[in-house]
Amino acid sequence: MYEYPRPNPAGQPACAYDPYRSTLRRAPAHPAIVLPHTLSELTGPVYGHNPIGETDNDLTRHGPAEPQGERIVVAGRVIDEDGRPLPNALVEIWQANAAGRYQHVGDNHPAPLDPNFLGAGRAITDDHGNYRFLTIKPGAYPWRNHYNAWRPAHIHFSLFGSAFVSRLVTQMFFPNDPLIPLDPVLQSISDEQARARLVSAFDLSLTEPEWALGYRFDIVLRGRSATPFEVPGRQP
Ligand SMILES: [Fe+2]
Repeated sequence: MYEYPRPNPAGQPACAYDPYRSTLRRAPAHPAIVLPHTLSELTGPVYGHNPIGETDNDLTRHGPAEPQGERIVVAGRVIDEDGRPLPNALVEIWQANAAGRYQHVGDNHPAPLDPNFLGAGRAITDDHGNYRFLTIKPGAYPWRNHYNAWRPAHIHFSLFGSAFVSRLVTQMFFPNDPLIPLDPVLQSISDEQARARLVSAFDLSLTEPEWALGYRFDIVLRGRSATPFEVPGRQP
C-alpha cells in the first residue's frame, strides 16, 4: 500500500518554540511515535460541487450589504507532491475583518465588528485543482504573546485532499508585510523556503480591473515541498 512521505521537520512549525509562549505549555514532552499509514489515513472524504453554495466562495456577499475594507481575490492551485492537480478538494478559509477583528465570541480586540462580514468561506477545487475566493483584506490584530505583539494580516486555510493523511491546516500571509519577521507563529518554521511558501504573491492576472487586487496562493499537499502544516490547536 502506498505510504505518504513523512514531513520534513524543518519545514513545519516547531511544537515548542520559546518566542511563541503558549507552545511551551502544550508541546508534547516526548517524541512522536511513528505509526504506519492504514486505510483510514490513506482514504478521505469525497466532495462534489453540489453541497457548496453559489456564494460560499464570495465572502463579500454574506451580509445584507457590502462589507467595509479592501476587496481582494485570493486564488491558486492545489497540487499533490508529484505536481498533479487535485480536483474536488475542499478548501475552507476564515479570517479577521478589515479592522483586524474576528466575528467570534472569544475575540475581544476593541476594533469594530462588521455586520456585513462573517469572515468564513469555502470552495471546491475544479478539474485542474484551481480554487478562488473573493474576500476583504484582513487587518493585523494584537494577540498578547509578548509586549506589543501583532499578528501580520493572514487568512486561515483548511484543506481536505484525497486522503485524511494529507489534511492541511495553515495560514496565508501577504507580501511585504513588515510584521512577518516579527511573527513568532510564522518564524516557528525554521526553514526559510518553507516560510516563504506561506506568503502569497500579488498577481496582476488575478486582479480584476476596477474591482479587486489579486493574490496567488498555491498549495502543495504532503511531500517534499508541502505547505507547512499548522500544529493542531494553534490558531490564534
Ligand atoms: Fe488568525
